[in-house]
Amino acid sequence: SLATVVAGCPLSSCLYNASGPLCTTAAELDAVGSSEAGAILSKSATLEKRQGNPSPRYFETTWGSINSMGLPNEGYRYYLDYAKRAATFNKPYFISVSGLGFEDNVAIIRALSGQEHVSAIELNLSCPNVPGKPQTGYDFEQSRVLLEMIFEHVTTPLGVKLPPYFDLPHFEMMAAVLRDFPIAFVTCINSIGNGLVIDTDQESVVIKPKSGFGGIGGDFIKPTALANVRKFYTLLDKDVAIIGCGGIKSGMDVFEHILCGASAVQVGTQLMREGVGCFARIAAELREIMGGKGYRDIDSFKGKLKTL
Ligand code: DHB
Repeated sequence: SLATVVAGCPLSSCLYNASGPLCTTAAELDAVGSSEAGAILSKSATLEKRQGNPSPRYFETTWGSINSMGLPNEGYRYYLDYAKRAATFNKPYFISVSGLGFEDNVAIIRALSGQEHVSAIELNLSCPNVPGKPQTGYDFEQSRVLLEMIFEHVTTPLGVKLPPYFDLPHFEMMAAVLRDFPIAFVTCINSIGNGLVIDTDQESVVIKPKSGFGGIGGDFIKPTALANVRKFYTLLDKDVAIIGCGGIKSGMDVFEHILCGASAVQVGTQLMREGVGCFARIAAELREIMGGKGYRDIDSFKGKLKTL
């Protein structure tokens, strides 16, 4: 069985969508609902509807992706309205929140909190693509300030989506902040921010916003994602679920994330490439791997990574 629990909600499969790809419109969310995904997660919502950055704003390479979408989304009310429909798919429905400022985040989360059929909130501390807005997740003091504001109001389970960290003291500093709040889950990682992909024929960048700089996803970010999953799994209480995100395109990738401590995983770049069929395919691959190793469930190997 690939069953797991996130924020107190049972999921029949540990695989679902990352916030971003194919989760902005009701039709896209329906497709995730109808697929083998274990949950439905919305595109990051702002207070008001946004068109996002000018196109081209997403580009795929053999090894992954670069994006600078700029938070195109329907506004949080749309994702709240969708909750009733989400419930018809009999799986948890999570709303990602990425307000443009602290006050926006508080307002959105107050409005979502306690609402029926909103299983949990994923607060995004790591959008790298809004010009002029720093990522809160790289400012530990500001992260604490925001979480203090948020937890004054929220009753619905709340988790955070973190940016990748690369320096060991930074893991400790963020973990020290998170330990002071009743966080339900931590999603590691958002894209590696502000990379640059180049088209050598054209001698040009490949996306239009921010002179071509954008968040990197796909194969190359898996080692960074695994390190972040592993670090937060070891640093936080075991009742905080770690959600792995980064470089997942096969059952073996999921196996690695779970070994590092993930309770569930999200698929981003590969979902964009393959569509919602990726959830059934990857799940079948993971079942095959688990069968071969004699593991009957996720908990049999979750977090059990060996060291030398
Ligand atoms: C966008 C990108 C992100 O990585 C994120 O966390 C939120 C929004 C975007 O550009 O739309």
